[in-house]
Amino acid sequence: MAVMFLSAEDPAEAWRDELRARIPDLDFRIWPEIGDPAEIDVALVWRPPPGELARYPNLKAILSLGAGVDGLIADPTLPDVPIARMVDPSLTRTMAEYVLLAVLRHHRQFDLFERAQRARKWAFAFPPQAAQRRVGIMGLGELGGAAARTLARHGFTVAGWSRTPKAIKDVTSYAGRSELHPFLHRTDILVCMLPLTAETMGILDAETFAELAHGAYVINVARGGHLVEADLIAALDSGHLGGATLDVFRTEPLPPDHPFWDHPKILITPHIASYCQPATAADGVAENIRRALAGQPLLHQVNRKRGY
Ligand SMILES: NC(=O)c1ccc[n+]([C@@H]2O[C@H](COP(=O)([O-])OP(=O)(O)OC[C@H]3O[C@@H](n4cnc5c(N)ncnc54)[C@H](OP(=O)(O)O)[C@@H]3O)[C@@H](O)[C@H]2O)c1
Repeated sequence: MAVMFLSAEDPAEAWRDELRARIPDLDFRIWPEIGDPAEIDVALVWRPPPGELARYPNLKAILSLGAGVDGLIADPTLPDVPIARMVDPSLTRTMAEYVLLAVLRHHRQFDLFERAQRARKWAFAFPPQAAQRRVGIMGLGELGGAAARTLARHGFTVAGWSRTPKAIKDVTSYAGRSELHPFLHRTDILVCMLPLTAETMGILDAETFAELAHGAYVINVARGGHLVEADLIAALDSGHLGGATLDVFRTEPLPPDHPFWDHPKILITPHIASYCQPATAADGVAENIRRALAGQPLLHQVNRKRGY
């Protein structure tokens, strides 16, 4: 039984040590030194090269090191084995932190004060109370649900939009396409935490922005493919949108000549909104390795047809 680890961004040795602490006889092989591909049972991966996973004839499961599996599913050669996405308390907590920070930065007008400082201006301004800010979260899953709870605890008026209705304390639930319009209509700060699927691709577009309150703020921490970039710039330049915080982009790293870099109303972070930690994520991954070998359904198994 062997597990193949492939990621340019995650710490291979830390993963090996955490998993061996839970499965002492684990044969952990770090790509590309993986020996005979036929011996690999489970692939633990983030952004494998397209076509790579088709080389393992006895693969029983693919365990993603990220919460989003859009990149994996986009590979037409991906073997037809169960896929699990990453669910980890550290991933969830760091995402809730980032979203709270981005919402507070806009709510307390730090973007305004940062601009004012550069112009040596004493820009005296007080914001409304948190309860008067209507935050809307697209995607109320593992990450969106936690961020919604965090924002509600800080006194914001929070709603979420998902495919199916949710019952989260102090969070108003909107569900399905038919409730997208009323959800957007009541939103001052829009946060995107949807998976990237055929249904959600390009959902942050001119039509969506037009539904938001005048001066609304957009935070995208999901995937670059959700955002129609030209529509965002047009909505910011027209003054309809007040600003945006973006962590994800259609092309990553964001090219040096991209217009987002110099836009005065855009804050850019380099896809760091949340990150998992082997120490907290290894329990779930070890359990999924056991399940894959026993032929049992995985925890957090992806529905390939649904795309997430
Ligand atoms: N920037 C970063 O660092 C970073 C880190 C981790 C993840 N992410 C992104 O965050 C995404 C969400 O992760 P997660 O773990 O929270 O996923 P999740 O638990 O699968 O939750 C997805 C949520 O989106 C909703 N949804 C899916 N398709 C929809 C549609 N067509 N219309 C309305 N709602 C829809 C789902 O509704 P139901 O509950 O009704 O199914 C669910 O509430 C990932 O896919 C990834 O792209 C980004």
